[in-house]
Amino acid sequence: MAPRTMVAGNWKMNLGPAEAADFAQELTLPPSTRSEVVLFPPALSLAALREELSDESEVALGVQNVHWEASGAYTGELSVPMAAEAGATFVLVGHSERRHIFGEGDDDASRKVEAVLRGGLTPVLCVGETLEERKRGEVAGVILRQLEAVLESGEVRERIASEARLLLAYEPVWAIGTGETATPEDAAGAHRILRERLVSYLGDTVGEGVPILYGGSVKPDNAGDLLSAPDVNGVLVGGASLDPSSFARIVAQGG
Ligand code: 13P
Repeated sequence: MAPRTMVAGNWKMNLGPAEAADFAQELTLPPSTRSEVVLFPPALSLAALREELSDESEVALGVQNVHWEASGAYTGELSVPMAAEAGATFVLVGHSERRHIFGEGDDDASRKVEAVLRGGLTPVLCVGETLEERKRGEVAGVILRQLEAVLESGEVRERIASEARLLLAYEPVWAIGTGETATPEDAAGAHRILRERLVSYLGDTVGEGVPILYGGSVKPDNAGDLLSAPDVNGVLVGGASLDPSSFARIVAQGG
């Protein structure tokens, strides 16, 4: 069964608590929204955003990163149980900025996905190639390596099979924050590669049910084409999710 379209906004290190509260007050989603809407504010803004969002808006919340331990001496980190208590139900794992600016590797992503699933939240595993990797013809190799590093864990496979909690986000690094968007054909091609591997690890029913989002310079004027590409089950929006009206226009295109 085709998963429900998801429109997610990753605010990155933008919008503190006061700005998050303003955003929530200004956000007006189309009344007939069928898409699932998720926002990933900075963790410090989560409470303010949650308080100001109207219950009818049905916006789910997530955090942009977690540590794999539940508590302990890890200065500067936050854990899955804390994120859950603060109202998060989703967690981004392995975002390209975590991988390329903060040096996170596939092992980190794997441990984090395990911890997120164990803690009852839903991981959104981000994968994507750099421009150099793309020019060398390594798109499939890179994104499959990033996906397999996580699916190699028996615990991850079992939990996904029994609880159906995993999303992927294909975010080509060269398209993030650059204004360069993958064409709908590029996105569909990468998503098909990921879908095939999901099915081979998880079987038809579970593998077909994992939503795959596209991210990288999604804007109100290109979201519709991307969302209608085959195997694109949603979008993960950075810059254009910071403005409530442009985010709402993208949500409207998810149906
Ligand atoms: P932009 O939409 O700003 O390119 O960011 C994409 C992204 O990284 C979402 O996680």
